[in-house]
Amino acid sequence: MKKAIYPGSFDPLTFGHIDMIERASKIVDHLVVGVLHNSAKNSLFSLEERVSMIKEMTKDLPNVSVTSFDGLLVDHMHEIGANIIVRGLRAVTDYEYEIQIAQTNHVQDPEIETIFLTTNLKYSYLSSTIVKEFASYGGDISKFVPEQFIQRIYSKYDK
Ligand code: PNS
Repeated sequence: MKKAIYPGSFDPLTFGHIDMIERASKIVDHLVVGVLHNSAKNSLFSLEERVSMIKEMTKDLPNVSVTSFDGLLVDHMHEIGANIIVRGLRAVTDYEYEIQIAQTNHVQDPEIETIFLTTNLKYSYLSSTIVKEFASYGGDISKFVPEQFIQRIYSKYDK
């Protein structure tokens, strides 16, 4: 069985992430969306909130589940029995960072492979950072995130 993980911070989940999840879930047998609990990183949404937002948006995808992890991705993959990492590439600027992570993980465990999906052109500009920047000024984020998240994001900025 091909079990893959799509890891990330998902702070917050965007249309770009959802598109990746939908497409990756068609390629592998089981896709785990792995939410990074990074205590050093100041996240807008708590780990529980991020996991619950992803569960909400993936409830109709039968081969997708959501986990969270703290520490090394390769360690978490051993725990859940996944050996494929899925990441999205938006532009050439992503490449340098992504190739470094992919190679590091492969050196750590040669059984682990990373596959890259090119982001849907529609969302190639989009990132969680952009969403937060727009929301912090009360800007329109309706093209970036599902409708049911908009108010939740604004409320973090008292908007
Ligand atoms: O959405 P992000 O924040 O770009 O995701 C980055 C992520 C979670 C893939 C990466 O930071 C990660 O795997 N962190 C876990 C710690 C780890 O394994 N680091 C080694 C890779 S060099």
